[in-house]
Amino acid sequence: MTDQDRKPALRLEGIVKTFPGVRALDGVSLSVMPGEVHALMGENGAGKSTLMKVLGGLHQPNEGRIFIGDEPVVMGSPMDAKAKGVVFIHQELSLAEELSVAENIYLGQLPRKSFGRVDWTRLHADSDAILKRLNCGFGSGAIVGELSIANMQMVEIARALTVDAKAVIFDEPTASLTDAEKVVLFEVIADLRKQGVGIVYISHRMEEIFRISDRISVLRDGAYRGTLKTAETDEDEVTRLMIGRSLDLSRNAEHVELGDVALEVRGLSCGKLFHDVSFDLRAGEVLGFYGLVGAGRTEIAETLFGLRTPTAGKILLKGREVTIHSPMDAIAHGLSLVPEDRKSQGLILGMNCRDNITLPQVDDLTAGPFVSDGAEIAIFDQYRDRLDIKTPSWRQLVGNLSGGNQQKIVIGKWLSMRPEVLIVDEPTRGIDVGSKSEIHNLIRELAKSGYAVIVISSEMPEVLRVSDRVAAMYSGKLMRIFTADEVTEDNLVQAISGLSENSRVA
Ligand SMILES: Nc1ncnc2c1ncn2[C@@H]1O[C@H](COP(=O)(O)OP(=O)(O)OP(=O)(O)O)[C@@H](O)[C@H]1O
Ligand SMILES: [Mg+2]
Repeated sequence: MTDQDRKPALRLEGIVKTFPGVRALDGVSLSVMPGEVHALMGENGAGKSTLMKVLGGLHQPNEGRIFIGDEPVVMGSPMDAKAKGVVFIHQELSLAEELSVAENIYLGQLPRKSFGRVDWTRLHADSDAILKRLNCGFGSGAIVGELSIANMQMVEIARALTVDAKAVIFDEPTASLTDAEKVVLFEVIADLRKQGVGIVYISHRMEEIFRISDRISVLRDGAYRGTLKTAETDEDEVTRLMIGRSLDLSRNAEHVELGDVALEVRGLSCGKLFHDVSFDLRAGEVLGFYGLVGAGRTEIAETLFGLRTPTAGKILLKGREVTIHSPMDAIAHGLSLVPEDRKSQGLILGMNCRDNITLPQVDDLTAGPFVSDGAEIAIFDQYRDRLDIKTPSWRQLVGNLSGGNQQKIVIGKWLSMRPEVLIVDEPTRGIDVGSKSEIHNLIRELAKSGYAVIVISSEMPEVLRVSDRVAAMYSGKLMRIFTADEVTEDNLVQAISGLSENSRVA
């Protein structure tokens, strides 16, 4: 069969969706073939999630139509969309954390026995079968709230597999998955594809898009920009379609004069999480921490920030030994952490953009009992411009911003405290390629203006691009610190796999 003979599994036609002050979708059309992985790309705030929420019955469009096969349909609610074969795996997890895995998988469709009683035996048997198919390391009886974020994601995916899906939408599914979990996810997608299910896959990670997609559609500022066949295009063309220009991804190699030592860490240990870690960090310097998930990088950051108590070692700030018992202590000593899990640790979704940014410094801005509105708005404006945060106004609730713009708000919040030592954990997770390079430049600029910066990242190109030196972690140990001249992809990979040069020679 040729492409022309095949009918799309689903089709969106002329979709318009507006929110107060925002035209999120401006007449977008898109079709997904059966058995196709259709990637949807675009900058933060371009409208990707909104388009999929329209398809998934979470939003009603102002204009436009949806077809399944040849049939026009109205997606009245998420349940309705699911009944019509469209399953949505969300960017934000939407699980009932207090319930079991099995109850979450079959939420709203629990198997019943006579008299309407729940058939628990079947519920758990069916759930365990799906979990097994996904290679999950937990059972259907586990309580969802006690799982890791990655495992919660697997529960979301398991839930999608309970219906006879025509289309499955994945909205940034790999943002919090380890490499091993990603492999499993890609197998699941390959499997769905073989069964003729149409897949919409949203991600900012080009290498994933080029690995698994058949076609790529691009949105920009709510408008449809075009569809490319993956095999016939390249990253540069997609980037140009997304942001209207090419990106210079070379390393910003200019030399920055280093200042005094801002942070000294001596023999720092925290139980089994990491052991005997020592390093110095100077003002004007970016130190990257690279390693596999679980190598102890985040835990070091949390210990420096007072979220964990060290079991041994010393921390010195500007030459003075300090004891940091809490984040308040850390902030008072001029040390800030932009956490990895921004949803739970960084933002108040029901509060507006301005207040989220100025929250940590309300004390400083308070003149008597009143917070000065003007000063707060000025701070917000400054970071909106600097980070290119897309929002109609400072009054917008952070929960209404696109995923990547929410992350920029968190970064702005910690920057606005003007710390001397800034630790950023996975600074560009979920951030589009254009904003990503802006954030990399921003990190370099912060260093240039005298900040001492630690960047924790699982993306090697990111670490190599922003760091002056790179610390390689393996299994709770700092294996080696490379200078920019020494570091290569090869020796970095070796160091984080526990293969030091010596052991290789031996
Ligand atoms: N419920 C809402 N109320 C108001 N504005 C909204 C709402 N949902 C989305 N928007 C706005 O619509 C636009 C598109 O947002 P959307 O979440 O679709 O972006 P996205 O392409 O998924 O971005 P990201 O890559 O950051 O996830 C943004 O300007 C966003 O602020
Ligand atoms: Mg989104």
